[in-house]
Amino acid sequence: MNIDVFTLFPDAFTWFRSQRHVANAMQQGHALECVDPRATTPLRWGQVDDTPFGGGAGMVLRVDVMEAALRARYGVDPVELPRRRRVIALTPAGRQLDDALASELAGEEELTLLCGRYEGFDERILERFCSEQLSIGRYVLAGGELAAMVTCDAVLRKLPGVLGKDASAVEESFSPALGGAPEYPHYTRPADWRGWPVPDVLLSGHHENVRRWRLEQSRLRAGDPLP
Ligand SMILES: C[S@@+](CC[C@H](N)C(=O)[O-])C[C@H]1O[C@@H](n2cnc3c(N)ncnc32)[C@H](O)[C@@H]1O
Repeated sequence: MNIDVFTLFPDAFTWFRSQRHVANAMQQGHALECVDPRATTPLRWGQVDDTPFGGGAGMVLRVDVMEAALRARYGVDPVELPRRRRVIALTPAGRQLDDALASELAGEEELTLLCGRYEGFDERILERFCSEQLSIGRYVLAGGELAAMVTCDAVLRKLPGVLGKDASAVEESFSPALGGAPEYPHYTRPADWRGWPVPDVLLSGHHENVRRWRLEQSRLRAGDPLP
């Protein structure tokens, strides 16, 4: 899988790339590359944004700047791109990321993520160059970089061989294996700490009973959010 992240702050991804599962993915031949629109801006002094028509606070990312960046990267008019690959703008009001969408994106060979900053994107970028908009939640961040990392994290850990054990990603909160419910509780040693015992069934060695108990716990948690 090749993921291109268009960002004005490529250095923000240095820590993310060093995370074990991301590094594993890179070693397996997957790619996560940052593209800085400032490097190809047709404007002087590296300008990438401008004041909004109609007035208002903040600066807006320019459509000509994003066109130049996408054109330089893919060698085509970016209006062609949504037919060829998923070009996803990170926006607070986009489709909300969830486990199903992360799995869907993990099935793509090519992904493009656009990070906004300041007041956001000129609307023509969203309308003409993007296939969709994606939000990581109903709140506003200062920029799309964290949202891109959250998305890449959720997607990359779905790829086979990226986690230490592939099974870790199968039976997880919201996964089809648990019918979309939250995961069951986990315990480890010591079996008793300050009089807080681990449930007996987990110490029983009876795999079928453990499996049933976990499914039941998962279903119980599906009703209400945990405190
Ligand atoms: C300060 S925000 C712009 C907010 C915009 N003016 C609005 O009210 O919707 C700057 C950038 O951060 C990113 N961003 C902020 N919150 C986000 C969220 N919840 N999910 C995804 N991206 C987000 C987007 O790329 C956005 O263009």
